[in-house]
Amino acid sequence: MDKNFVIAIDGYSSCGKSTLAKALAKHLHFVYIDSGAMYRAVTLYFLRNKIDPSDNQKITEALQHIQLNFHSRDYQTHISLNGEEVSEEIRQMYISERVSDVSTNRAVRAAMVKQQQLMGKSKNIVMDGRDIGTAVFPDAQVKIFMTADPNVRAQRRYNELIAKKEDVSFEEIVDNLAHRDYQDTTRKESPLTRAEEAIILDNTELTEREQLKFILQLIKPLLK
Ligand code: DC
Repeated sequence: MDKNFVIAIDGYSSCGKSTLAKALAKHLHFVYIDSGAMYRAVTLYFLRNKIDPSDNQKITEALQHIQLNFHSRDYQTHISLNGEEVSEEIRQMYISERVSDVSTNRAVRAAMVKQQQLMGKSKNIVMDGRDIGTAVFPDAQVKIFMTADPNVRAQRRYNELIAKKEDVSFEEIVDNLAHRDYQDTTRKESPLTRAEEAIILDNTELTEREQLKFILQLIKPLLK
């Protein structure tokens, strides 16, 4: 490889993008970057500082005061917001409920995309999100578009949150995923769409090992 290598993974909420991205990064010794964590951290900042996600003037000002940093440890996402580790906090349901409103904002997206592009400039990375193969790295060497049956996605997310002792119902998760799918695919700014050349991966009936094996087989020849 003479140039740094970018693997872009896009797809719906809770269909296992980060699981695959982490496994690939670990296997290939690449850096893993969870772009959704950045939108979540901005959402947390806006909530704490009572910034209305439709107030463009306030948002532009607020973005100047937001410093996000990733620390990679064991291929898990550790993100800090102005020096405070917020990785656990941003996974909570109250953030999931608000993040779509924040991630549709044009100024927020422009600021995040700029940072993401910088992170992928000189390192081999796996980045997951909604617009990575289409807007952030349109020249990525590998693009993957992930999908899975909505009920299976909701069940996986439910199991994850229950394991963390969050007080949520299955119906709440189904509603939240449907809402985020709708927002992600219909928003004006960089909606979730499949890049034409992306590999489609439907993992409804695949185990984590099976999906990793499937993708590695396809991309190994490109890594030479
Ligand atoms: O992947 P996630 O569920 O943690 O992402 C949180 C939200 O951020 C999701 O509802 C859509 C948005 N997002 C985005 O708009 N663009 C990205 N590249 C990543 C996430």
